[in-house]
Amino acid sequence: MKQFKTFRFFYAALFSVIVIYSCSKGGGGGTTPNPCSGVTITVSGTTSNPTTLAASDGSITVSASGGSGFTYSINGGAFQSSGSFTNLAAGTYSIVGKSSAGCTGSASFILTAPNPCAGVTITVSGTVTNPTAPGATNGSIAASASGSSGFTFSINGGAFQASGNFSNLGAGAYNIIAKDLNGCLGSANFTLAAPNPCAGITITVTATLTNPTAPGATNGSIAAAASGSTGFTFSINGGIFQASGIFNNLGAGTYTIVAKDLNGCSGTANFTLTVPNPCAGVTITVTTTFVGNTPCGATNTGSITASASGGTGVYTYNLNGGAFQASNIFPNLPAGNYTVIAKDGNGCTGTTIETIPNLPAGPLFSLVRGVLQANCVTCHNSVLAEGGMNWTVDCNIVTFKDRIEARAVNANPSAMPPTGLLPASERQKITNWINAGGRYTD
Ligand code: HEC
Repeated sequence: MKQFKTFRFFYAALFSVIVIYSCSKGGGGGTTPNPCSGVTITVSGTTSNPTTLAASDGSITVSASGGSGFTYSINGGAFQSSGSFTNLAAGTYSIVGKSSAGCTGSASFILTAPNPCAGVTITVSGTVTNPTAPGATNGSIAASASGSSGFTFSINGGAFQASGNFSNLGAGAYNIIAKDLNGCLGSANFTLAAPNPCAGITITVTATLTNPTAPGATNGSIAAAASGSTGFTFSINGGIFQASGIFNNLGAGTYTIVAKDLNGCSGTANFTLTVPNPCAGVTITVTTTFVGNTPCGATNTGSITASASGGTGVYTYNLNGGAFQASNIFPNLPAGNYTVIAKDGNGCTGTTIETIPNLPAGPLFSLVRGVLQANCVTCHNSVLAEGGMNWTVDCNIVTFKDRIEARAVNANPSAMPPTGLLPASERQKITNWINAGGRYTD
């Protein structure tokens, strides 16, 4: 609650003297010198203010100097011998002093009334009646004031009226000012609230769903309806409200539909459009062929070739969980077990496991291995590896076949075994294998 105090009638009670020098003397012709020339009449005095705003018990007592035989006039009234003026109300007074020679001087005095609002606290209270519906203007405020008397009331800065009752009000904030007889003010703010239009209203959203016909298709739709109020508009997934509850061109997914009535009350429901599982009843069969790995080579030579059936569209393939690729061939594989997955155009998959073996030793290699086991491994094994060579490891034979040929066939720079070259038929086995390619599988 706010209190206003009006200082409208308040003036500092100054002892105030304004002196106006004014000398005059009615002249009897140009030949007579002015007796007031060079004369200064000064009027001074004391004031006593009225005791209330309405009282006329103030007074001013003046005296003049600069001459003799003074009479005094207040506010142009008749001159009197006394410089004392009583029964004065608040206001500004001009007093003229006139000497017996007719010379005059004057001064202004101000009498002030006490501030009628000092110590006065006006309190405004009231009873509000809210409007009965949103937008209605049948609310009212019955205001009253205390702390003084003779109140009039104003709402929102309007004209003051005797009654504190204000009607035909809509929802909102209002400021009411009460003013007493002396113009002292007090005020208070009141708020009229509209009732919640949605209290007790439950809006239910239902819908008829049409699912998209295939994965990725956007020909689904939701036909929503609402109940529980009237004048509905509809929004999907936070979009703009529209009059129709029908939403077309929808793909699979979950959608939030909000229905809003005329008063902004709303209801919400989620609906999910689904597509049939394209893989239901689909069995994708993956078949594979393999090429075994040739051991001891610089690169692995194993490979898997896959094919798939039973699905739709173009297949892609992956090996051991790697990325799907368009090619159905996986080359350069070492021996081992592999999982192959084929995926069709709908994402349906089939799986198989394939094993790549190492290819067996070839007949020419086997003969050479027999020659070395019979003639060389006593000096070339895992313990005694003369010249750094261990011929009990098959791949060493393949890797160092040129050295074997040099030493055991060509005796370059010297024969192996050191005791002398092997018989020609044994050496021919080495030559035959190398000529055939010198691979493990030859
Ligand atoms: C009695 C032991 C002995 C036998 C048996 C033997 N070697 Fe050696 N080999 C050596 C010794 C010692 C060296 C190291 C000295 C040298 O290189 O002459 C060697 C080194 C080699 C080297 C490596 C040097 C190079 O030139 O690359 C090769 C290859 C080799 N032998 C092949 C063979 C073959 C093949 C046989 C069997 C046909 C064989 N050796 C049988 C003792 C033997």
